Amino acid sequence: MKTAVAFAVCACVVILVCAAVEQKSKNCNEVRTAYSSKGFNINDVPNKGVHGAHLKVCPEGFSCCTLEMEEKLSQQSRSDLKAPVSQLSSNLQNTFTQRHQHFDQFFKELLNNAEKSLHDMFVRTYGVMYVKNAELFKHFFHELRRYYASGGAAVHLDTMLADFWAELLERMFRLVNVQYEFTDPYMECVSRHTEQLKPFGDVPRKLRLQLTRAFVAARTFTLGLALVPDVVNKVSTVSASPSCVRAAMKMLYCPYCTGQVALKPCKNYCLNVMRGCLANQADLDTEWNNFLDAMLSLAERLEGPFNFESVMDPIDVKISDAIMNMQENSMQVSQKVFQGCGQPKPTFRSRRSTKDSSFPGRFRPYSPDARPTTAAGTNMDRLVTDVKKKLKHAKKFWSTLPETVCVGERVAQGDECWNGTAKSRYESVVMGNGLANQVSNPHVEVDITKPDVVIRRQIAVLKEMTSWLKAAHSGNDITFDNEEDGSGEESGSGCDSPSCDNDDMYFSTPLPVKPSMVSPEKTSSSGVRLTSCSLVLALAGLTLALLAPHTR
Ligand SMILES: *[C@@H]1O[C@H](CO)[C@@H](O)[C@H](O)[C@H]1NC(C)=O
Repeated sequence: MKTAVAFAVCACVVILVCAAVEQKSKNCNEVRTAYSSKGFNINDVPNKGVHGAHLKVCPEGFSCCTLEMEEKLSQQSRSDLKAPVSQLSSNLQNTFTQRHQHFDQFFKELLNNAEKSLHDMFVRTYGVMYVKNAELFKHFFHELRRYYASGGAAVHLDTMLADFWAELLERMFRLVNVQYEFTDPYMECVSRHTEQLKPFGDVPRKLRLQLTRAFVAARTFTLGLALVPDVVNKVSTVSASPSCVRAAMKMLYCPYCTGQVALKPCKNYCLNVMRGCLANQADLDTEWNNFLDAMLSLAERLEGPFNFESVMDPIDVKISDAIMNMQENSMQVSQKVFQGCGQPKPTFRSRRSTKDSSFPGRFRPYSPDARPTTAAGTNMDRLVTDVKKKLKHAKKFWSTLPETVCVGERVAQGDECWNGTAKSRYESVVMGNGLANQVSNPHVEVDITKPDVVIRRQIAVLKEMTSWLKAAHSGNDITFDNEEDGSGEESGSGCDSPSCDNDDMYFSTPLPVKPSMVSPEKTSSSGVRLTSCSLVLALAGLTLALLAPHTR
C-alpha cells in the first residue's frame, strides 16, 4: 500500500515535469515559425528549449536561441532599427526635393516669362530700334539667369546692372544725337557720367535694390531647400554603433529566445534604446531648427518686399519707364554731356535729322491679359504658404525621432511588456535627448567625448547656410565670400604677401571710375576700349600702388 502511494506520487511528479517540458518545447515551435518568417532557416532553431548560458546578449536560463541565431537576429535588428528612420528620412527628403523643384522651376519660369514679355512689348513699342539692340536685353536676362544659377562668384549684380545702364545710355545717346559723330573715347566719357547724369531717372537705383534683394532671396532660398535632402541623407545613413545594435537585439529579439514571440518592448525601454542609438542625430536639432527658422523668415520676405514675382513681372514696364525718362531728358542730358565731354563733331554725311523718328511709338501701357502665366497657374504666395507648412513640420525632426519610432505596433501598450529581462513593468528613468544625456543610458554605451564626424560636419554646413539665409534676409549675398578667397582678382582680401599688395591696390583703390572699367571682365569683353582718359586714371592708380609700400 505504501509503495503504491509512493508510486502514484512519483508518477504524478513525472507527469507534471513532462507537461512542463512539453509546454516549453511547444514554445520553441512558435519561435521556429516566427524565425523562419523572417527569412531565416528553420533548422537553426532547436526543437526543444536549451539552457541559455552560452548566449551573448539574451538572458540566461531556458532559451530557444542558439549563438548562431543570436548573431543572425543581431543583423536583423540592425536593419529593423534602420527601417523606420530611413522611412521617415526619405519622406522628408522627397518633400523637400519636390519643393526645391517647384521653386526652382517657378523662378526660372518667371525669368523666361519676363524676358519674353519684355521682348514682345519692346517690339511693339520701339520696333526696329529695339530689334537692332535686342542683344543688349538678351544679355541682361542671360546674366540674371547666370546669377541665379551660380551666384555672386559668377555675376556681380551691381556691376552687371551698372554696365547695362551705361550700355543702354550709350546706344540711346547715339540714337538721339544722330547728327553728331562720336568717337570711342567720347563714348567712354559719356558712360563715365551715367551715374551723375541720371538719364534714366530713379529707375536704375530702384531696380538695383529690388532685383538684388529678390534675386539674393530667391537664390539663397532655393539653396536652402536643396540642402535639406542632402543633410537628411547624410545624417540618416550614419551607421549604428555595435552597442546600439546589441541593445536593439536585446529589445527586439530576446523575447523570441524566451519563447514569447508576440511580446513587445515597453515604451520607455524603447525610448531609452532609441535615444542612445540616435544621440548624435539629436545633437543636430539646435542648428537644424535655427536653419528652419531662418528659412521661415526668408520665406516671409519672399511673400513681402523681396517677392521675385512682383519684381520680375513688371520689369518690362520698369525698363521702358527708364527709356521714357531718357527720351524726355535727352535734350538736357545731351547738353550736359557736351559741356562735360566737349562739343562733338557733326556728321559729314548730310542726312535729314532722324531725331524725332528714333523712337517711333510712345510707350503704350501693356494689357495684363497678354502676359504669359506660369505653368499650373502657380504663384509665389501659394508656393510659399505650402513650403512654410513643410518647414514648420520638419522642426525638431531629429530630437523627436525616438518618439516617432517608439509608437504603435513597435511597442506594447501598458505594463504587460518586455522590459529587457522579463515580461514586467519598465522601471528605469527615461534619458534625455542628445549625446550629453547618455552618460548613464542603461542599455546603450555612448562615448560622449566622441561626437560623430559626419554629423559634426552637417552641423557646420547648416550653420553656414543659416548665416547665408540671414544675410539674404537683409538683402545681402555672402554665399561667395569664402569661395573667392585666393582667387585674387575680386576679393583682394586674405592675401598677406607684399607682391599681392600691388594687385590689391590696383583693384581696390577708390579711383573715381566706375568699377566695371577696372574689372578684368569688362576690359576683355569691350576689347581695346581703354581710352586715354581711363589710361591716365589707371596710371594714377598704379603710381599710388607703387608708392604705397614706401610711404608706410
Ligand atoms: C524588469 O522586470 C524585472 C521583474 O519584475 C525586474 O526585476 C527588473 O528590475 C525590471 N527591469 C527594468 C529595467 O525595469
